[in-house]
Amino acid sequence: MEKTDKDMELMEQIIGLAKRRGFVYQGSEIYGGLAGVYDFGPYGVELLNNLKQSWWNTTVRSRENWYGIDSGMFKNPRVWEASGHTKGFSDPLAECKKCNTRIRVDKALEAIDVSADEKMDESEINALFDEHRTEIKCKKCGGHDFSPVKKFNLLVKSNLGDFTGEGDEPVYLPGEACQGIYLDYKNIVDSMHPKIPFGIAQIGKAFRNEISPRNFLFRCREFEQADTQLFIKPNENKEAYENLKKERMDWHLSLGIRKENLRLKQHNNLVFYAKDAWDIEYNYPWGFDELEGIHDRSDYDLTQHQKFSGVDLKYNDQVTGEKYTPWILETSMGMGRLFLAVLSDAYREDDMGDSKRIYLALNPSIAPVKVAVFPLMRNKPELVKKAREIFDGLKGLMACEFDDNGNVGKRYRRQDEIGTPFCVTVDFDSLEGKGVTVRDRDTGQQVRVSENELKSYFSERISA
Ligand code: GAP
Repeated sequence: MEKTDKDMELMEQIIGLAKRRGFVYQGSEIYGGLAGVYDFGPYGVELLNNLKQSWWNTTVRSRENWYGIDSGMFKNPRVWEASGHTKGFSDPLAECKKCNTRIRVDKALEAIDVSADEKMDESEINALFDEHRTEIKCKKCGGHDFSPVKKFNLLVKSNLGDFTGEGDEPVYLPGEACQGIYLDYKNIVDSMHPKIPFGIAQIGKAFRNEISPRNFLFRCREFEQADTQLFIKPNENKEAYENLKKERMDWHLSLGIRKENLRLKQHNNLVFYAKDAWDIEYNYPWGFDELEGIHDRSDYDLTQHQKFSGVDLKYNDQVTGEKYTPWILETSMGMGRLFLAVLSDAYREDDMGDSKRIYLALNPSIAPVKVAVFPLMRNKPELVKKAREIFDGLKGLMACEFDDNGNVGKRYRRQDEIGTPFCVTVDFDSLEGKGVTVRDRDTGQQVRVSENELKSYFSERISA
């Protein structure tokens, strides 16, 4: 469906709320920012951690034969040669001769329904671009006159080791987090003795010299990837690949993301390492776009690392007595893209009483704050004391917040925008043992709950 101005307005509203309520800030903002880099604020980091925790519980803790790691970001420079990134990891760019605006040629071609294979070299993509040059317009000045296409490598170089004189060979920041998993595969096999099929999971940072970072957290230069790599017997990819697609889709649904906003889509053009590739796409304010990649990498990675390192990375199958290079099925999800999908999906506006309100209908299990506790009036010490007692009793069990700023209506609005599912108000009846008011974020309805039932009341509703 065509996206309207209203959809893009929604994007602006989400970005505004993220900043106003301490979810996401532009990185280095007081210096004018740095394109494609964002910071997570107090509520953002809570939401992000809850998403990571849910992913880790599902992928590592609740599965046998799965192992978590956290590998170092800097790697021997040979790693990125072996992986193919120093050569194959690039975007084709052309520059408008009139206004010097750079365009991603593959994206410009895609917009006119022409697909450029990622494996095309510079001369091939130049030929394709020349064929369609007149159909492509510069986004800024509308011109058609572009420089020849150049492939621009996305790896970010560091100067690690320069001062020791070792700096001839650049040490890169990770272009994809999963390489750490391939490098530790042998360590896991030697120390954990896993039976194939087995998996290794990691959440790690990735850095890419993206030409045009865009759409807030969607395309950044620094981002986090939650990756799983499933090591399987050669040619046993079919069923396992289907299962992975289903499992990943089910997990996204378990976060409360609406089904109609998720879909699976197969890639027409495969990246250099993939034998087959599917995306889980989310319906972002600008339309369906990639949220997570599910890739059949066959034996590409381990074969390459064996070749470049000279170390035998074959798996000794104790059950069959065979020795082989395992194939790998990968799932790779950008945490920022998930965060944006979750915010977009939860964003709601409605009329409550006499005014419009904005709220985040977050699944309670991932909400940054589960319960906010208020005294009805901040200038009544007996109400404040009782509210503090209730807050102290809950805070060790769930993420709670004590709030006595402004009037109760303002506190509700603030908590609604944070996505807090429950607000507790302590009033004069509470002092007489008549319980407290619990207000539900989504319906605005209030019920009276006795003080000694509060813990079980929230536990049931938050885990559900
Ligand atoms: N190891 C495989 C790999 O890196 P990818 O499709 O390039 O594959 C996987 O990236 C996921 O990482 C994507 O589905 C997306 O969620 C996220 N991602 C990729 N580039 C990104 C960027 N520039 N900014 C934010 N997230 C990004």
